[in-house]
Amino acid sequence: MKKLILLIGFAFLSLAIINFCDNRERITESDYLKYGDSIVALTFDTLRIELFKAMAEKGLIGAVDYCRIHALDLTKIYEYGNVTVRRAAIKFRNPSNQADELESEIINNYINSKVVGDSLYSIIIEHKKHVHFFKPIILQSACLPCHGKPIDEIPNELIEFLQTKYPNDQAKNFKVGDVRGIWHITFDK
Ligand code: HEC
Repeated sequence: MKKLILLIGFAFLSLAIINFCDNRERITESDYLKYGDSIVALTFDTLRIELFKAMAEKGLIGAVDYCRIHALDLTKIYEYGNVTVRRAAIKFRNPSNQADELESEIINNYINSKVVGDSLYSIIIEHKKHVHFFKPIILQSACLPCHGKPIDEIPNELIEFLQTKYPNDQAKNFKVGDVRGIWHITFDK
C-alpha cells in the first residue's frame, strides 16, 4: 500500500516538477502554492497511513516509537532537488522540529488569525534566494491520544513512555482545532 501510494505520488510529482522546471522563469506565487499544497497532501497521506498502520499493529506506545524512529524521514520522502520539507512547532516534541524565528512568527500569526475567527490559508514568502511555503497543521480528534490532555486523553502508560523518550516534550495539552504547527517547504529560487 505504501509502495503504491509512493509510486503514484512520485509519478504525480514528477509531472508537476517537469512543468515547474520548464517554466522556471515564469513561476508565479500561485504555482508555488499549488506545488507546496501537492507536496503537503502527499506527505501527510504517507504519515497518516503509516501512523494508523503502526497504531493498529503495535498499539499506541509502539506507534509513538515508530514515529520517533521514522517520522522525520517520512516527512522528507517527497523532497526533491533543492526542495526541502519539514514540520515545525513552537510546542515541539522532537527538538529537530523546533520552530526558528520565521517559523515562530508564522505560527503565531496563524494562532492569532484563529483567535479572531479568520480562515487559515497556505502562504508564500519570498526571500532573496528562497521561496518559503507555509501551511498550518490543525489538531484533529485522532491526534488527541498522543497530543491531548495527559490522563484524560493521553493514557498513563503513554505519558511515562513519552517522558523517557522525549524528556522535554511540549507537544501535549492541544485541543481539537488548535494550530499544532506548520508545514514549511523551501524552494531555491
Ligand atoms: C501515536 C501517537 C501520535 C499520534 C496519534 C499523532 N502524533 Fe504527532 N507526533 C507523535 C510523535 C512521537 C512525534 C515526534 C516524532 C519525531 O520524533 O520525529 C510527533 C510529532 C508531530 C509533529 C512534529 C512537531 C513536533 O512536535 O515534533 C506534528 C506537527 C504532529 N506530530 C502533528 C500531529 C497531528 C496533527 C496528529 C493528528 C492528525 C498527530 N500528530 C497524531 C505522536 C503522535
